[in-house]
Amino acid sequence: MDKIKNILICGAGLMGKNIAYVMAGKPEYIVTLYDSKDQDPREGIRKSTRELVEKGIITSDEVEDRLKRVHFTTDLDHQAVKNADIVIEAVFEDIEVKRELFKNLEERCSAKTIFCTNSSVMSPSDISRNLKYRGRFVGTHFWNPAHLIPLVEIIKSDATTDDVAQTMMDIFQSVGKKPVLCKKDVPGFIANRMQHALWREAIYIVEEGIADAKTVDDAVKYSFGLRLPQLAPLENADMVGLDLTYNIHKTVLNDLCDSHEPSPLLAKLKDEGKLGFKSGEGFQKWSKDEQEKLYSDLNKYLIKMIYDK
Ligand SMILES: NC(=O)c1ccc[n+]([C@@H]2O[C@H](COP(=O)([O-])OP(=O)(O)OC[C@H]3O[C@@H](n4cnc5c(N)ncnc54)[C@H](O)[C@@H]3O)[C@@H](O)[C@H]2O)c1
Repeated sequence: MDKIKNILICGAGLMGKNIAYVMAGKPEYIVTLYDSKDQDPREGIRKSTRELVEKGIITSDEVEDRLKRVHFTTDLDHQAVKNADIVIEAVFEDIEVKRELFKNLEERCSAKTIFCTNSSVMSPSDISRNLKYRGRFVGTHFWNPAHLIPLVEIIKSDATTDDVAQTMMDIFQSVGKKPVLCKKDVPGFIANRMQHALWREAIYIVEEGIADAKTVDDAVKYSFGLRLPQLAPLENADMVGLDLTYNIHKTVLNDLCDSHEPSPLLAKLKDEGKLGFKSGEGFQKWSKDEQEKLYSDLNKYLIKMIYDK
């Protein structure tokens, strides 16, 4: 792979801005954000990094230094598109919007440019289906907030070359992320498959009247949730023994939710307009103050866990 210098990020929304901040952490990189809507993405980046500055993890001069390497355009014929070594797409979660964008990019970028999609759930094989050079297309799934959460899942499509996947692993490692390789293009990739297996069971416990929503969340927060960052599932299984794990599974798996459809309780709440924070009630009621506190507590917790500050 030739030397990487020019990074183009398509979509300057919540994810695109924070990914731009991450990529600009490497002084050799010039980052350009492209969005169909005109804006100054630097304000958003300053806002999301405010807590990092307050905690002394980065100085405001260092943030400004990164921002000098972050440019913005609404023009797909801009030189930064032609010169891009890597494109990271973070536009709306709509397959036709993404396909159209990559088709336009393919007409403008070099055949060697690596194309990445940040889609949360869409298959990189499907998004890239009609492209000419499919080997250079790969899923790179950042987690929100992208400037804090270390994980980036690198998802190989049915055509991604090993070289391209490895290059992106190396690049994200070099900007301080924790890249992991998802060898097969499957829905939910690695982490969301596990997360939603847990959510399905959590909702089922409420639905079955075993415990209410707050109790379910407390049971996680005050037990295995607390030790998960230090003791992940398969390490934990090894620690307690695979013979014991086998016996537990023989007893409990038969009783767990194994539905292949979203839960009827989830559907009912959704149909009643109980959508969570956005309507003020979901599984629980949420005032504006409670919502803000949860966001703020989450960021503080993440900073403490990641930076020990
Ligand atoms: N928000 C999350 O928690 C999260 C987490 C992981 C992955 N993702 C994925 O990242 C992507 C972006 O999500 P987001 O939350 O940043 O969305 P967002 O709505 O905040 O931002 C999307 C941006 O893309 C721009 N855009 C839309 N179509 C465009 C086009 N054709 N050309 C150029 N710009 C265009 C919009 O103007 C907007 O600024 C989605 O694919 C989403 O699934 C989101």
